[in-house]
Amino acid sequence: MKQADTQTNKNLEAAFAGESMANRKYLYFAKVARELGNEEIAELFEKTAHQETAHAFAHLELIYPTEGMTVAKLLEIAIEGELYETNQMYPEFERVAREEGHLSAVGEFQEQAAESAEHAEIFQQAAKRFKALTGVEAHHAARYQKALDNLAS
Ligand SMILES: [Fe+2]
Ligand SMILES: [Fe+2]
Repeated sequence: MKQADTQTNKNLEAAFAGESMANRKYLYFAKVARELGNEEIAELFEKTAHQETAHAFAHLELIYPTEGMTVAKLLEIAIEGELYETNQMYPEFERVAREEGHLSAVGEFQEQAAESAEHAEIFQQAAKRFKALTGVEAHHAARYQKALDNLAS
């Protein structure tokens, strides 16, 4: 599902991260520029943010090629990411923030860890429903095939 661990694939991940961050950063800058009363610069940030999304998607198309992709795999990748955030990344970030006495960051990391856990749960439920659904479809397909076989015999 994931590409080999080459330097180019690592660079694609880094480039994807950078373009994605630029997108969210510029949307945030647009909000701040608007709050500061500069509509023209707010719109410039928004327009550029949309282009950064296109750049990020171009990298994603190479990281997760659509060929051979399935909905089950998409959900699996998403669950893996959310569980990493909730079980490893945020607890570690929270520990360091506490050590450094950055209490607003401690609170924020805790909140986000909880939201990542919620996202993981929602994706897991969706994956279960999807599995049940494909099971039902396979069952129908098998019955349909049996009916066809009976007609043919
Ligand atoms: Fe870009
Ligand atoms: Fe999330």
